Amino acid sequence: SAGLHGLITEKVRDVPDFPEPGVLFRDITPLLADGTAFSAVVGHLADVFGGEVDVVAGIEARGFLLAAPLAAVLGVGVVAVRKVGKLPPPTLRTAYDLEYGSAEIEVSPAGLTPGARVVLIDDVLATGGTAAAACRLLEEAGTKVTGIGFLIELLELGGRDRLPDRPMHALVSY
Ligand code: PRP
Ligand code: HPA
Repeated sequence: SAGLHGLITEKVRDVPDFPEPGVLFRDITPLLADGTAFSAVVGHLADVFGGEVDVVAGIEARGFLLAAPLAAVLGVGVVAVRKVGKLPPPTLRTAYDLEYGSAEIEVSPAGLTPGARVVLIDDVLATGGTAAAACRLLEEAGTKVTGIGFLIELLELGGRDRLPDRPMHALVSY
């Protein structure tokens, strides 16, 4: 709704040149810290993705802050897609490029049942490298990514085009 959009954009803080020169960082700290905005965001994600989902996957670290409350509201479990080196073996691992740098992420198959319908959640879609990598891992584990949700989509980075073709939803775009 228009109300939700305003609630979000009012609480996102623009930080020029972070984490490096030329990047305009959209900081969601004030949004997460505001109970009205936070619960509205989680409630909206639940409206969009509720129903046919078995588990919610969140991407470290800020994705966790949305994926976990969403999963709890939906009454399903949550799985952490983590930066490399944090999860005990066995893991599935893949490398990806970021807007600023490159990295590797991992997931533990112990949290994933083959055939499960997974909704993947992160805070920001930038280049799409992270979310695309997370989708690869979740599918390598035999699950089906049935939806991908973001709080914010950064349109000029074209991340949407890097995502596999499946239902994708962002609450606000810049
Ligand atoms: C940010 C953001 C997304 C990713 C988006 O995470 O939270 O996960 O980058 O970028 P992309 O679409 O270009 O891949 P970051 O790696 O900064 O980690 P953090 O959440 O742990 O701060
Ligand atoms: N804000 C927050 N997270 C991000 C951004 C941003 O502008 N770009 C890539 N990850």
